[in-house]
Amino acid sequence: MIGAIRILLRHGFELIERPFDRLFGPALNPVAQLGALGFFFFWIVAVSGIYLFIFFDTGIERAYESVEYITKDHWYHAGVMRSLHRYASDLMVVMLVVHMLREFSYDHYRGVRWFSWLTGLPIIWLLYTSGITGYWLVWDRLAHYVALVTSELLDWLPIFGEPIARNFIATGTLTSRFFTLMVFMHVAVPLFLLFIMWVHILRISRPKVNPPRALALMSLMALIAVSFWKPAVSQGHVDLARAPVEVGLDWFYLPLYPLTDFWGRGAVWALLAAFFLMVGLMPWLPPLRRARPAEVDLVHCNGCTRCAEDCPYEAIRMVRRTDTLPFPTQAQVNPALCVSCGICVGSCPSSSPFRRTEELRTGIDLPDYPLRELRERVVAAAEALQDSPRILVLACEHGGAAGRLSGVVRLPCVAMAPPSLIDFIISRRHAEGVVVAGCAESACYHRLGINWAKQRFAGQRDPYLRARVPRGRLATIWTSALESRRFDQEFAAFRSRIAALGPVKRDTHAPAGAAANPADGSASIKEEIGS
Ligand code: HEM
Ligand code: SF4
Ligand code: SF4
Repeated sequence: MIGAIRILLRHGFELIERPFDRLFGPALNPVAQLGALGFFFFWIVAVSGIYLFIFFDTGIERAYESVEYITKDHWYHAGVMRSLHRYASDLMVVMLVVHMLREFSYDHYRGVRWFSWLTGLPIIWLLYTSGITGYWLVWDRLAHYVALVTSELLDWLPIFGEPIARNFIATGTLTSRFFTLMVFMHVAVPLFLLFIMWVHILRISRPKVNPPRALALMSLMALIAVSFWKPAVSQGHVDLARAPVEVGLDWFYLPLYPLTDFWGRGAVWALLAAFFLMVGLMPWLPPLRRARPAEVDLVHCNGCTRCAEDCPYEAIRMVRRTDTLPFPTQAQVNPALCVSCGICVGSCPSSSPFRRTEELRTGIDLPDYPLRELRERVVAAAEALQDSPRILVLACEHGGAAGRLSGVVRLPCVAMAPPSLIDFIISRRHAEGVVVAGCAESACYHRLGINWAKQRFAGQRDPYLRARVPRGRLATIWTSALESRRFDQEFAAFRSRIAALGPVKRDTHAPAGAAANPADGSASIKEEIGS
């Protein structure tokens, strides 16, 4: 059941995200930047909030007037800030909901990722508490309604000895101290929210907490435009003697409030409890089947730190050497954090399929899918290739190519393949061309795999693809599991290019300076790359 909902939702996201990829480019696609945008809107709320506090009177008698002063007399700066504060808060809710649904639809919440998922739950409570206490501070008719319904809801819980709702019904009994408590909460809760947001991303490496500058600028401009077009306003001074009727609700923060009238307080709490219980249990419904974590082989580890740099899940630490080899540090895997993506295998300088040792060993390897097996699978898949030109596909199991073509070598992530594997395939003439096929560019299942693969192939990140490898014989195709047509088109185009290039004629181990074979028009490796 959960699986079916996830697949349906994934289709929904694909329908929106792939056109966005084309419209904005994968790097600027806002749907792939939801967490970062959440942080960005938080900072807008924080800065505008601090600005508003300069003008806001924290006493209950003058609070409303000070907000009116901000909105009307000083609309051109403080009023705009008020609108920015309101709309950026609303957008935080939008980001939170869509981000949560997206992480769910991409199956990013089970296994090791339970931590980010569960720490997302207090974020929901804290964000809503921040927003609800914010509405309270305006001390208008909406604030009265919010105060009344919130206290009725709280009164239902057996926490407070004396019902607090009564405070809002009888004018005389409301103390300004209670209002001051709300002011304090509206400052303290967001600070705590920020702390939990930081905890939320602790277990992922290089989290995207800042959207790309162009996207941030576009979002800010849009918010400023809306703030001028439809400024945030109050709804008339509170009148505690009269019940607040017909107030305009903020549907982002208060969607459950009207339900209290229809269903009653118990039902609203039951709904919340059921939601959080179910969402809290989801990472184990059912649990993700995990391959065994990566293991370090000290004999082949020189402590270069590349694996620790590249691991997307903070699963590798460099620690003091425990053997007698003359290096200061060694890699150490935390099995509880490792998702067996193999990215570290692809980053290790020892991961070379050219090695002639009896059994291919490397510094860090996956026990369930070692480098030795990867090389064997590559050789076997290459031997089985029948069509000419022979094109070998190294495919991420989460992307669009896996399972589409015969002879595909599946990997947990494209970045598991060390660049030397591509060199190996072409220079040993196992195939005329190599396709590295991953997820959609803005939606890498293992977060950083596509980035690392691209940088390694471009010679910008160790271990880089050697210059002798003819780039024309390598293609990268980034398509999601649902973009089979695009994969087929790009694959067919690459096939025609390789057919035009002809076979790889000479092994790279041939003497330097040997000429290409001009007779059959095929290019040598030296000629194809010009080095
Ligand atoms: C305003 C609220 C939130 C903010 C600002 C936020 C921010 C972020 C950021 C920046 C990341 C890292 C993204 C990356 O670099 O790959 C992230 C990851 C994640 N978030 Fe949130 N988040 C919020 C709420 C939530 C909620 C409510 C949930 C779910 C209950 C959630 C679930 C996750 C998960 C599962 C990941 C891990 C993804 C992965 O391992 O690839 N987040 N979040
Ligand atoms: S397999 Fe992936 S998660 Fe595990 S240590 Fe290597 S890079 Fe990190
Ligand atoms: S990449 Fe390889 S050699 Fe470098 S620290 Fe990691 S295991 Fe050791």
